[in-house]
Amino acid sequence: MTKPIIFSGMQPSSSSLHLGNYIGALTQWVALQDEFDAYYCVVDLHALTVPQDPAELRERTRTTAAQYIAAGIDPAKSTLFVQSHVAAHPELAWILNTITGFGEAGRMTQFKDKSQKQGADQASVGLFTYPVLMASDILLYQTNVVPVGEDQRQHLELTRDLAGRFNHRFGETFTVPEPYILKATAKIYDLQNPTAKMSKSADTDAGLIRVLDEPKVTAKKIMRAVTDTDNAIRFDRDEKPGVSNLLTIFSALSGTPIETLESDYAGRGYGDLKKGVAEVVTSTLEPIRARTNELLADPAELDRLLAAAADRAAEHANTTLRTVYDRVGL
Ligand code: ADP
Ligand code: NA
Repeated sequence: MTKPIIFSGMQPSSSSLHLGNYIGALTQWVALQDEFDAYYCVVDLHALTVPQDPAELRERTRTTAAQYIAAGIDPAKSTLFVQSHVAAHPELAWILNTITGFGEAGRMTQFKDKSQKQGADQASVGLFTYPVLMASDILLYQTNVVPVGEDQRQHLELTRDLAGRFNHRFGETFTVPEPYILKATAKIYDLQNPTAKMSKSADTDAGLIRVLDEPKVTAKKIMRAVTDTDNAIRFDRDEKPGVSNLLTIFSALSGTPIETLESDYAGRGYGDLKKGVAEVVTSTLEPIRARTNELLADPAELDRLLAAAADRAAEHANTTLRTVYDRVGL
């Protein structure tokens, strides 16, 4: 039996993923690869819609791919590839550009936000047509479902509209994809500012746990996490955000329910709790860090994995693209 197809793109936007990405997204993608025929794409062409340093972009693309493999995306099960390795992505995007309304693209709130931040004259046409390239990514694989957060919902709506419009004008060609709502998982907060979500765009580094940090660095950050003065280990998001965040992390990575942790640590100090958290975080991340470094140290092997995946992706993508060219008269 063929499995439904899932497509997800990830930006090569920073050199290391953080613990929020790992708990909130990556562990679920790993789980999804059994149930679905998964396409996981490092979207380097999308990254070019804002200014990039070429050497850095190339390095981040490789590091991003390596981290996903190291965290459990199995190249034998899932097609984990780099967007620019499959030429069909910009080729289909061009065709879709010709059926996308100027006003329709202009209504995308992410474009409005980002172009406002950059200034209307600085923002590129690439930024404007970003959602059309995203539609191409998805539609090339006859994708059934796309995991989307709130910020990508409008783009997936556009993808569905374009698929339907093309099918209507030129005959059934594309599968119209559905959104896939990821399981609600724990939200992870900044260790120094535990009411703000852990994010790569945090102001300071001290509250951010990076997958690729040395275990010593990670343990130190956890030992210095902000707590409070009442010294009780109890989950209470409003009154005790720091302690609650530590309990959330501990529970998410160990599988131990928060109530069990509360009773295990009853009468003990924050230092003990932090040691426990540091232990579970470093023992989870250390193999991922080590495997990532191993993959990056053997560029030929990583290139081989990515090239094999790109070939597999291209085969599927080109089948769709040939039909599209034929339908529109090319
Ligand atoms: P950032 O907020 O650092 O820019 P991204 O937006 O690139 O992170 O996050 C990619 C995915 O990682 C999100 O869709 C979400 O599922 C997950 N994620 C990011 N930050 C967190 C967090 N602090 N807690 C839980 N999940 C998170
Ligand atoms: Na974000």
